Amino acid sequence: MTDGSFVVRRVVDEERPAVARLLADRWGSTQIVSRGLVHDAESAEMLVAVRDGEIVGTATFVVGGDEAELLTLDALEEGAGVGGALLDEVARSAAGARALRLVLSTTNDNLRALGFYQRRGFRLVELFPGAVDRARKHKPSIPLVGDSGIPVRDELLLVRDLGTA
Ligand SMILES: CC(C)(COP(=O)(O)OP(=O)(O)OC[C@H]1O[C@@H](n2cnc3c(N)ncnc32)[C@H](O)[C@@H]1OP(=O)(O)O)[C@@H](O)C(=O)NCCC(=O)NCCS
Repeated sequence: MTDGSFVVRRVVDEERPAVARLLADRWGSTQIVSRGLVHDAESAEMLVAVRDGEIVGTATFVVGGDEAELLTLDALEEGAGVGGALLDEVARSAAGARALRLVLSTTNDNLRALGFYQRRGFRLVELFPGAVDRARKHKPSIPLVGDSGIPVRDELLLVRDLGTA
């Protein structure tokens, strides 16, 4: 898919190490903890946004049965449509794999992402108080304080129906 001057596509095998480094850099490791489960984003489905041969964004997700889970979404250039284009393509791929819903977890401090996802059809369906504090025991690299000085403690589950994706 093309949106302006960047392209969103599946990762090619040669790019996986670079994406893994990027994920480790942004998320502390490629192990993503969600709802108490540890996922290895490195072996998940991966999409990249590429501009002029440079990776400017990435998304990782898994599909299991009728549910797809977005593990990570990163735009290296914010506000340029990269995150939205990656999310659209994840939804399309998941729907193509017969998933009926796309779920994701985010943390209580990530107000920007909470707005971004809700403007794109996601509903808040569950709150897990203290889930990040518990995840931090497994992954000490999770920061104690996040965006806007907000303590990072809780996990929120968001869901988007893929019937219309
Ligand atoms: C959340 C995230 C993926 C969004 O990606 P993005 O490429 O900035 O998203 P888009 O450009 O498609 O949309 C950003 C929105 O901010 C608006 N915006 C305008 N100017 C902007 C600016 N200078 N900077 C950021 N956003 C701006 C856009 O218009 C858009 O508004 P909309 O939601 O009403 O459409 C990105 O902020 C990110 O990588 N965050 C860090 C990682 C993260 O938190 N990931 C999600 C956790 S699960």
